[in-house]
Order: sequence, then structure tokens, then C-alpha cells
Amino acid sequence: MSVTGHHYCRTSKTVSKSSVIFCVDYRHNMAEKQAGVIRKLDEVVVNRIAAGEVIQRPANALKEMMENSLDAKSTSIHIVLKQGGMKLLQIQDNGTGVRKEDMEILCERFTTSKLEKFEDLNTVTTFGFRGEALASISHVAHVTITTRTGDSKCAYRGCYSDGKLKEPPKPCAGNVGTQITVEDLFYNILTRRKALKNASEEHAKSVDVVGRYAVHNCRVAFTVKKFGECNADVRTPQDSSHVDNIRSVYGVDVAKELLEVSHVDETLSFKLHGYISNANYSVRKFVFLLFINNRLVDSSAMKKAIDFVYQAYLPKNSHPFLYLSLEILPQNVDVNVHPTKHEVHFLHEDDIIGSIQKVIDTKLLGANTSRIYYTQALLPGVSSTLSTDTKKPSTSESGKVLEIEIETSLI
Ligand SMILES: Nc1ncnc2c1ncn2[C@@H]1O[C@H](COP(=O)(O)OP(=O)(O)OP(=O)(O)O)[C@@H](O)[C@H]1O
Ligand SMILES: [Mg+2]
Repeated sequence: MSVTGHHYCRTSKTVSKSSVIFCVDYRHNMAEKQAGVIRKLDEVVVNRIAAGEVIQRPANALKEMMENSLDAKSTSIHIVLKQGGMKLLQIQDNGTGVRKEDMEILCERFTTSKLEKFEDLNTVTTFGFRGEALASISHVAHVTITTRTGDSKCAYRGCYSDGKLKEPPKPCAGNVGTQITVEDLFYNILTRRKALKNASEEHAKSVDVVGRYAVHNCRVAFTVKKFGECNADVRTPQDSSHVDNIRSVYGVDVAKELLEVSHVDETLSFKLHGYISNANYSVRKFVFLLFINNRLVDSSAMKKAIDFVYQAYLPKNSHPFLYLSLEILPQNVDVNVHPTKHEVHFLHEDDIIGSIQKVIDTKLLGANTSRIYYTQALLPGVSSTLSTDTKKPSTSESGKVLEIEIETSLI
């Protein structure tokens, strides 16, 4: 608009400010009067746009592929990342594998083994249902899939591009399960590639998402590591426990300060189970692992509500760690509200959040009556002020550290 106005006024030389605006509007309206020609977008463009919504960064692609591995009943999932997953993202599972005859359409949009009719969305318990994750990835990266089912004598390998299998799958050696290799993510979307230039940030995001799934799916073994390195960033064994996995992913400091929460609400038809940090533990950034019907989701409303409860127990500007798993009647949950599935809507959201707040508050209050305080014993003749720090034991050469359990309550 300013370009149009500038051009027009230069030719009319002596015009007042108001007439400039008039001229600009006039020209602008004229342009708007002409209807645009409507064309059907090329299918590759459509798919690439759609893929960009589902796959926003390596961590999204990884989440989708981990969910597929879990849907395929895998008990071990191993991930390798190069340049934060942008150069290479490889996931190997020991699940059901894919039948050779399905490999042709595996990466086509809207091909799934998990949903048949729209109504199934009300009862869907698998992570996947749209049949577009692998398609999306294949539209923005080079994808190679090696897979073997339990009844097949060998594995088959296929390479995919823009949703299509490039040539018939080739037989090869391989274990039962699936290995997916994603290379050069966003090779064909320059702007997205530029926006993701920090490999270590992308690596951290991918490791974070694996850690969360490892805590929730403690029966499954997970590893994630950098390409060429022996040490894994996350390594959890098969048949572990939630707390053991919290310890190995988030550290002993938080693992030793956890309270188990468990609640069944008949009226609101939901179940809650999880582990929450007690009042002895706090961090600068709220760590909230929320799973609704086994799906890793975000809920800023729930996060805020829980943080509010903790405000009564924690020092200012510090936050808790929570791992919560919620089971809500599938027909009360709308899983299909976000392209990356990281958001869900559910019925009675406010009431359920209120109920969870109460469960957490009661738990913290109960635990607070036997909270551990640390004080310093004074040696006779040494003048010193008592430490008022209730978080860490104070150590000094003049005093021995004593742990005293004080019965206390905030009310
Ligand atoms: N690791 C795997 N093991 C076995 N089968 C798999 C694996 N990954 C994908 N598949 C098969 O490929 C199909 C397509 O996967 P994709 O992730 O694209 O779609 P989806 O999981 O069905 O739905 P969504 O797009 O919501 O994730 C799946 O339905 C499944 O049958
Ligand atoms: Mg899927």
C-alpha cells in the first residue's frame, strides 16, 4: 500500500496529506476489486505445507516415530541423532514390524492400520490415528525403512520420497521390528532449515521428549545418543519403574523427594496416578510431564493451577517437578485438536483441574507434617547464628550437621 501511495503522489506533485490518503485508498480498493484466479495447488505443495504443520522440528518427528513403535508393542526403542536429528534421525524398535505388502502405501497420506471410521476417534487408544506422520516426514526428508514381521524370513528395505516408495522393497537381513532412518530434515524447506540452525538445542529437545516417554513407559527400554558416541543421553532398562526412570533421567535429587499420588474420581470419570516433588524440592523451571490417556500433552491451564498450589509450599519463583498420568474416558477426550497432537480437549476440564489441585494440596499438606529440617548444632563457646536455610544441610568446621525431623504444618 505504501509503495502504491508513494508512486501515485510523486506523479501528482502538490497534494495535501489527506488527499494522499484518499489516493492511496482509492488505488488500493481498485486493486481489491479484481478477483484472484483460483487454482488448485500442486499435490506436492499441499503435502509439503501439511507436513510442515505436523513436523516442526526433529523432536516432533521423533515423537511420532516413538509413538508408532509403542503402538507396535515394542519393548525396546533405540534412537541415534546426528546434528540434533537434522542430519540423521534413526529409530530402531523390536515391535510387530510392517507387512511387506503394506510397504507400498506406508508413507502415503491417510494410510493407517489404526482407524477405520470417524466414530473410532471416540475410542482410539493408539497414539496414531490419522495416518499422516510418516507421510509428513517423507515430504520433508529422505526416509529409509527396514522392517520385518515375526512370520517373515527376512527384512525388507524401502526408500521413500514425497509419500512414495521409490522402488520395490529389497530383501535384506534384519531383526523383527522396524528401523526408520530420516535424513536431511527440511532439505526442501529452506526457511524451516534456517530457523533450526542450533543443533545442540534440537538435540536437547529430542532428548527431552525421549526422557518423558521413558518415564511414562517404564516397561520399555529406551536409549538416545549422538551418532558415533557410546554414552547415551538417556538410557533406561526394560521393566523398570517410574521412579527409577525419573532418577536416571532427571537425577537423584528429585527422585528422593517424590510423593506418589493416586486418585479415582467416580463423578468426573477420571483416574490419576503419578509422582510429585515435595516441599523440600524446587527448581527454577517447572518440570511437568503430563500424559492424558498415555499421550504426552501440554496443558497450560493445569500447569498454572498446580503451580498455584505449590506457591504455598515453595520459596518465591521456584517450581516443582511433576509426572502425572491421567486416564479420562476416551469419549470425553478430543484428541484431534492439534496437528502435532500435543494438545487435547476434554470434558469437565475445570472441574478435573480443580480436583487434581485438591489431591496435590492434600498430599503436600500431609507430607509437610513430617518435613525434614536441617539445623546446625552449636559447640559450647562458639558464637554463631543459626542457619535459617531449611533446604540444604549447613556444613561448617565448627558444627556437626544434625538432621532433625520437626512436626510442622503450614496451617
Ligand atoms: N515402528 C512401526 N512398527 C510397525 N508399524 C508401523 C511403525 N511405524 C508405522 N507403522 C505403520 O505405518 C502406519 C502409518 O504410520 P503413521 O505414523 O504415518 O500413521 P498412524 O500412526 O496410523 O497415524 P498418525 O499419523 O496419527 O501417527 C501405521 O498405522 C502402522 O501400521
Ligand atoms: Mg503414527
